[in-house]
Amino acid sequence: ASTRAFVRALPKVELHVHLVGSADVDTVLALARRHPEAGVPTDRAELERFYAFRDFDHFLAVYWAVQSMIRGRDDVRALVTGLAARLAGQNVRYAEVTVTPYNHLLDGVPGDELLTGLTEGRAEALADHGVELAWCFDIPGEKGVVAGRETLVFALRDRPDGLVSFGLGGPEVGVGRAQFAPFFTAAREAGLHSVPHAGETTGPATIWSALHDLGAERVGHGTSCTADPRLLEHLAGHRVPLEVCPTSNVRTRQVRSLAEHPVRRMLDHGVVVTLNTDDPPMFGTTLEDEYVAVADALGLLPAEVAGLARNAVEASFLPGGRKAELL
Ligand code: ADE
Ligand code: ZN
Repeated sequence: ASTRAFVRALPKVELHVHLVGSADVDTVLALARRHPEAGVPTDRAELERFYAFRDFDHFLAVYWAVQSMIRGRDDVRALVTGLAARLAGQNVRYAEVTVTPYNHLLDGVPGDELLTGLTEGRAEALADHGVELAWCFDIPGEKGVVAGRETLVFALRDRPDGLVSFGLGGPEVGVGRAQFAPFFTAAREAGLHSVPHAGETTGPATIWSALHDLGAERVGHGTSCTADPRLLEHLAGHRVPLEVCPTSNVRTRQVRSLAEHPVRRMLDHGVVVTLNTDDPPMFGTTLEDEYVAVADALGLLPAEVAGLARNAVEASFLPGGRKAELL
């Protein structure tokens, strides 16, 4: 109980949370009643079972079903303001939120409605909840280079306020990182930061590729880095932060339990670890829960827990002055 109070009082930032995956249960149930064709349960207990994932691919199939119910500006804005309200309740002051424009465009959301929903929601998040949001636009890797090109074009054309980074998500198996190198190069030249997922469901070679081919400044997950001592040394030495999502990895069955999560070894090797939720209601977690769970599983001292929160502020793409306010 005292760990939770300590964690709640810490000013926190979140660096890895997907907008669609942040939809709370009531929102998903309401959407499911409006869109029965999506195949998402309309009943609370059934939705809980729907969120019991057999493996990573099953998780993605569920994620895509929920995503398909987002149809326009008001849906997008509601996701953003709902997320902001829940972040504020945990003393999360700033979040970098991943949005996958290409998938929403394929689902028929007009690009201008997506942008308006994000921008209006972001203004409301700040005004009503005091939470500052930034955007990461990411490529759905499973859709290949066409998705890379379209995501880049969409990101650079209307460049919404708060867009800070360019990412790559979806499955890693059979989806090489290197094919997306040209899009990351162009995004970085345009001033966006590089934050691909890597090493969530595949080995250390994918993380090396994210670093070398995509210029990754942080790595989404990076779970498998502990399998390669040279990589651990590289990440620690170059201070490349990992966006670790412990409960996500357990719930998608990439890691057996929190106790067995490689986060312990990452920390022991001096890697810059940040804690994140990925898709919080789908994994039955919150950012506060992640800190409490890791503190308990690893037996961390309060100063070490505060150090993890500080890592996330420092690893964020906030301007230096704003970081100082949160440290
Ligand atoms: N999209 C939503 N959550 C994701 C995850 N954990 N990995 C890859 N893509 C995702
Ligand atoms: Zn993710």
